Amino acid sequence: MTTSHSSKSTFPAGPTVPFDLNTTTECFQNLAEWVKIYPDIFSLTQVKRKDIAYFVNQPDYIKQILVSNNDRYYKGVGFERVKMLLGNGIIVSDGPFWRKQRRMIQPAFGKDVIAQLVDQVKLANIKLLEKWQQLANHNEIINITESTNELALEIILRALFSEDLDTIFEREGGNPFSILTDDSARDLKLAVKFRGLTRLVGDIIQQRRQDKPVRNDFVSVFMDARDKETGEPMSDKELIDEVMTLIVAGSETSATTMNWIWYSLSQYHDVEARVQAEVDNASYEQIPGFEHIMELPYIRQVTEEVLRLYPPVWLFTRKAIKDDKLGEYDVPAGSDIFISPYYLHRHPDYWEEPEKFDPERFTPEAIKQRHKFAYIPFSAGPRRCIGDFFGIVEAQVHFGLMARHFRMEYVEDQPVELAPEVNLRTRYPIHMRILPRD
Ligand code: HEM
Repeated sequence: MTTSHSSKSTFPAGPTVPFDLNTTTECFQNLAEWVKIYPDIFSLTQVKRKDIAYFVNQPDYIKQILVSNNDRYYKGVGFERVKMLLGNGIIVSDGPFWRKQRRMIQPAFGKDVIAQLVDQVKLANIKLLEKWQQLANHNEIINITESTNELALEIILRALFSEDLDTIFEREGGNPFSILTDDSARDLKLAVKFRGLTRLVGDIIQQRRQDKPVRNDFVSVFMDARDKETGEPMSDKELIDEVMTLIVAGSETSATTMNWIWYSLSQYHDVEARVQAEVDNASYEQIPGFEHIMELPYIRQVTEEVLRLYPPVWLFTRKAIKDDKLGEYDVPAGSDIFISPYYLHRHPDYWEEPEKFDPERFTPEAIKQRHKFAYIPFSAGPRRCIGDFFGIVEAQVHFGLMARHFRMEYVEDQPVELAPEVNLRTRYPIHMRILPRD
């Protein structure tokens, strides 16, 4: 189905009423209808934006945009609010500046650094274990959404600041970054409060420049990084923007993932039993370290299935900076491109019974059978999520510890509804009765 808007160009057909795609419930619902009519690709005219928009939901086209022809695309619309929070950190920057920053930051996400950072992930989880043990003794009801939010925030903060985090907590009388978990509205008020925290990050950087302590954390790797062309380190402003970026990019995504995993385990008892068997049979004493991750392949499969059905970044965008062609369709420079892992991950041509929760989709054999670009919870190509591996390891450590001790029973109060905002969260917090396992 094609539409020719001029004698020269060919655009895919699409809804005729102009609409601005964005991270709202209305858009989420419209997309559910539109993908039924145009499952692979459609174009539409926008209301506030002047350029033509493409919704792209076909793995070969997606590969072309994100990988083969990625030099024809920049990050797209929808980052205005994120920019207020993050300055020019790598999630929003583009071009040569992004490339330089990504090169400098990438080593912090190598397997050797992550292996050391797992100690920080363990620390945050052990603290939570003690708290949960008390609650489980009385079969209390807990707000698992809040708990996973707090945990994921503490993990990324510990990974960034290691020992200095406790100093910050002491000096500030608590976790000053918890405004991110307390205040779910991503509005201007939050942006102002959050930017106020840059002072704290700046202070730590200054202190480290002065005292030169030995630290194993992201901040120390960033401070040691040198641009391979100029030999220059990052400026304070660049360091601060990147630290703030990781706090935002690395906390809510991981938190919602763990939230959805707990919910899924409470719904599928066969999956829960397999997770329990896996953790019971693993060789670690109390909590998995980096060396035990390979013993937890089923938790990884469950995590991947959760990221299929509930990809936290459910919609992301690109801006064509040069002309391109997707199959027979023209993509003129300026086009706004929208890609939704949520809808792609439910495309019936690539997923059998897409609505069914089934971690077997992620056995190595099953993965091999599938189009590689039918599954992109972390995006793909040069701008793929830098924390993808860290995010999965976080879940493996958390469930590797907690599933040995507890099971969670879903407490039905408010409905479990999707909230398609910047991240795909649950609209209402999920409550669970926490029970000791024996
Ligand atoms: C399950 C958890 C996570 C998911 C589903 C996720 C998803 C994504 C996606 C889809 C993108 C690309 C967005 C786009 O192209 O517009 C992205 C980028 C990014 N993510 Fe993640 N993320 C997760 C965890 C993390 C963690 C733990 C960190 C940091 C520790 C992190 C840091 C970043 C950064 C810095 C970028 C920007 C990379 C660049 O543009 O060069 N993410 N993430």
